[in-house]
Amino acid sequence: EPQIIRNKQEMRNWSRSMRAQNKTIGLIPTMGYLHQGHLSLITEAQKHTHLTVVSIYINPGQFTINEDLSTYPSDFQGDINKLKSLPNGVDVVFNPQNLYDYGVETGELGVGNEVCCLEGGGHETWVRVEKLEKGMCGKSRPVFFRGVATVVAKLFNIVEPDVAVFGKKDYQQWRVIRRMVRDLDFAVKVIGSELMREEDGLAMSSRNVYLSQQEREQALSISRALFEAKSAAKKGNNNCSELRRSVIESIEAAGGKIDYVEIVDQESLETVEEIKDGVVVCVAAWFGKVRLIDNIEIDVS
Ligand code: PAJ
Repeated sequence: EPQIIRNKQEMRNWSRSMRAQNKTIGLIPTMGYLHQGHLSLITEAQKHTHLTVVSIYINPGQFTINEDLSTYPSDFQGDINKLKSLPNGVDVVFNPQNLYDYGVETGELGVGNEVCCLEGGGHETWVRVEKLEKGMCGKSRPVFFRGVATVVAKLFNIVEPDVAVFGKKDYQQWRVIRRMVRDLDFAVKVIGSELMREEDGLAMSSRNVYLSQQEREQALSISRALFEAKSAAKKGNNNCSELRRSVIESIEAAGGKIDYVEIVDQESLETVEEIKDGVVVCVAAWFGKVRLIDNIEIDVS
């Protein structure tokens, strides 16, 4: 049975008392509706620390008012059951009601014309990873990485973990967090964990439940196109604009609407013209009302 903690101070007290007993703590931040991808992060964390804390918190600060905050799926009891069934369980589920509960005053909550869902919450401090937050998902979701970096900084300050694990499914997010931790000297080791797929290749995501059967079928075009790009690259095609175009064409042919397809350096996330060192092909595409992201790393050896 994981202990469920809903209060920030209680969470911090727990961590401090464990640290006083020389226990190391791993944190896995999530927004719940857990699937095998999330669970694999927990297994990864448990290789590095004595204790694990899974946070379940749907962060309004990373959604704009036009996005799916109100319909984001959740099933707290189902999540707890999944966590209980893990071979090593987890020690704590941190499930705060509201991480921005400081009373009401109005702050500047937008980026340009985009406004996040923390209306007048009295919150005005943001962590911005200025270059990494701009491209790819940052283009169509301008407040997203600011919201993610800020809530993760808050979670690090509350939980004080030794290690935190993020999925490479959200590749740009993982890079943003790593850079934040380096730049602000957080005493947390950030680990990137492998992207988990369904048997047919679809990247696991809490949002997959909103795909109709037909969209679910069409969405397989993303992973197929990524696998094809990788094998073409391995066979020697290092022309990124060609590889990119064929990924776009395959997804569009299946009925997807492209948000972006980018081939970028794994570290800097800057666009590359030619496949040399480690690159990652990143995709965001809409199938009906569902926006999916996926990526594949290509290492040329
Ligand atoms: P969420 O989408 O719930 O994801 C929580 C963690 O699970 C992230 O690190 C994400 O990369 C990882 N994850 C999701 N699907 C995965 C998959 N198929 N394979 C491997 N890892 C996967 O990402 C967030 O929540 C939020 O932005 C958060 C970091 C919690 C901040 O609010």
